[in-house]
Amino acid sequence: MSILFKNIKELVQVRDKAIAFVSGADMKVLPSIKNAFLLVENGLISDFGTMVECPKLNVKTTIDATGKIVMPTWCDSHTHIVYAGNREGEFVDRIKGLSYEEIANKGGGILNSAKKLQALSEDELYAQSKIRLEEIMQLGTGAVEIKSGYGLTLEAELKMLRVIKRLKKDYPIAIKATFLGAHAVPADFKDNKQEYLEMLVNEIMPKIAEEQLAEFVDVFCETGYFSVDDTEFILKAGKKHGLIPKIHVNQFNSIGGVQVGVKHNALSVDHLEVMNDNDIKALKNTQTMPVALPSCSYFLSIPYTPARKMIDNGLPLALATDYNPGSTPSGNMNFVVATACIKMRMTPEEAINAATLNGAYAMSFEQQVGSITKGKLANLILTKPIESIASIPYNFGSNKIEKVFLKGEEL
Ligand code: NIG
Ligand code: FE
Repeated sequence: MSILFKNIKELVQVRDKAIAFVSGADMKVLPSIKNAFLLVENGLISDFGTMVECPKLNVKTTIDATGKIVMPTWCDSHTHIVYAGNREGEFVDRIKGLSYEEIANKGGGILNSAKKLQALSEDELYAQSKIRLEEIMQLGTGAVEIKSGYGLTLEAELKMLRVIKRLKKDYPIAIKATFLGAHAVPADFKDNKQEYLEMLVNEIMPKIAEEQLAEFVDVFCETGYFSVDDTEFILKAGKKHGLIPKIHVNQFNSIGGVQVGVKHNALSVDHLEVMNDNDIKALKNTQTMPVALPSCSYFLSIPYTPARKMIDNGLPLALATDYNPGSTPSGNMNFVVATACIKMRMTPEEAINAATLNGAYAMSFEQQVGSITKGKLANLILTKPIESIASIPYNFGSNKIEKVFLKGEEL
């Protein structure tokens, strides 16, 4: 099965050699080829170049992309799309004046989602979650990380992870799974958090390793949730079970979570709405990717990650949705890119690097996706006719995608 895209107005995010990620001033550079062709064979990118170099081929499908852009699909490195029900009631409560924290203290928040999820069968949870997965594929996402963390018991955490495993098997989108048992302390363990942490480590982690249910381990490191010491305890245990750290830090407070992430070679540290100079310094010249989640800032009306300052200090940055029922009920990477440009003053080139190449790195998918590179998966967005790549953030809220291809197959 081969496809030839011809007369592409601009082929964007072209990297002859696969690179891990871009940082600092390099984030402004988004390499492209104007008036290009792209050849897909057996689900992979097999050749590309200018139309002048386009070989005469007898391919099954030819697509004329005159006036249109071709680029890699979005890489969404932070989501919680396996969840039960919704939290629309809390949304209305927040409009009426309650804070995210006040709602959580009233028994809402993560514990509310956990109660709903514990009551669902695995099949029901799968049925609800696959709708969201199909939705994000249509919106141009071709690789996604999905977390557990709305189960908070042995059975319910494993149920979530098994649903993710089924989604991996059933869909062409590339998926990685993260164990986020340390998302909130369940009511039963309110006065004995350590016992809960030990349950995560001694009972759930061995099962995850045995059934190969996750690649990563995550902790919500935040005042009122899990401390820096708790985080360290979970990351160390996770590593023993082959789980690479990727953590929630600095959403509301800077308490040293970034530093503990870097110390344990976290693949990414995510949220970072509140960043002081020491946090920025700690990330310099490390292999840890900072990840910003602008839709969460938008939805909760909290500060945006100081992307400009971080990039100007030489750091890399990835962008992800955080799709979840509480803080970000949206999985639209096009909106994330637009919001990063509009609210965080990232240039379109920086935002697209952050949402493709750097996002792929933040979930260890940089060998497979995130750029137009020979041998990578043909996970591609074909836009509608557009002026330039800046149309995507400029026309925020409109859909500029005409077609999405995953592993060389049109959705
Ligand atoms: O990434 N901050 C922690 N966890 C999720 C939201 C959890 C929820 O409210 O359900 C997040 O924003
Ligand atoms: Fe999250």
